[in-house]
Amino acid sequence: MVEPEDIVSFIEKDILDQLPLRGKKVLITGGPTYEAIDPVRFIGNHSSGKMGFEIAKAAANLGAEVVLISGPTHQSVSHNLIEVNPVTSASEMYDAAHLHFKSVDIAILSAAVADYKPKNVSDKKIKKANATFSIELEKTKDILKSLGAIKQHQFLVGFALETNDEIKNAKGKLEAKNLNLIVLNSLNDKGAGFGGSTNKVTFITDTEEVIEHQLKSKTEVAKDLMQQIMTQQYA
Ligand code: CTP
Repeated sequence: MVEPEDIVSFIEKDILDQLPLRGKKVLITGGPTYEAIDPVRFIGNHSSGKMGFEIAKAAANLGAEVVLISGPTHQSVSHNLIEVNPVTSASEMYDAAHLHFKSVDIAILSAAVADYKPKNVSDKKIKKANATFSIELEKTKDILKSLGAIKQHQFLVGFALETNDEIKNAKGKLEAKNLNLIVLNSLNDKGAGFGGSTNKVTFITDTEEVIEHQLKSKTEVAKDLMQQIMTQQYA
């Protein structure tokens, strides 16, 4: 007689083989980045990382193999198709994203990457001395733009958080960074953006289609995003 565990793994494989993204690889960035000032201080932001983890789960549930490059967060996931690659700074996220990009089919960059970092990092804790204190900042490398510049077969998705001229600015980023799709969050929409468990997004495609969604849980937004990618890339 066939062993029960062999029957279970046969059924499991059969179910997995029928999932629409079986055999596809997805790269996701999520969470904030921390840019060191000295050994105890950094410049960061309020990103919870939840959106990136929800996208990772949605992609894995469709059968994709996922690499999630995540800045510092309290999120966690246990799924045999998801590999979490923790990083701290924008520069570490850049290196990790480039390491994986060539071998993936889809890349979704949802991380809230710091745009600037301290030009010089002190190796000792900075003492308070004067009444005012300045830190000179320099730009971090734009990970999304750098991937857009070397993109071949990959479907590339970016996020945009805007406060004004939202659609116009997001379209500009889609074009400038050579994206297939951009996910627009407007800070004017209640329940959208950082921290919370909901998001209100508009998808803008490389054929200038604008698809507005209602306020939804980040779990549902992640599912909508994966459906949108499959419609554009694999329908
Ligand atoms: N991004 C990135 N690397 C950076 C900065 C941003 O990969 N150093 C990605 C984000 O993950 C997001 C997208 O770029 O997918 C949009 O980021 P955003 O900061 O809104 O846009 P910018 O192009 O930096 O423009 P601005 O801040 O001036 O609006």
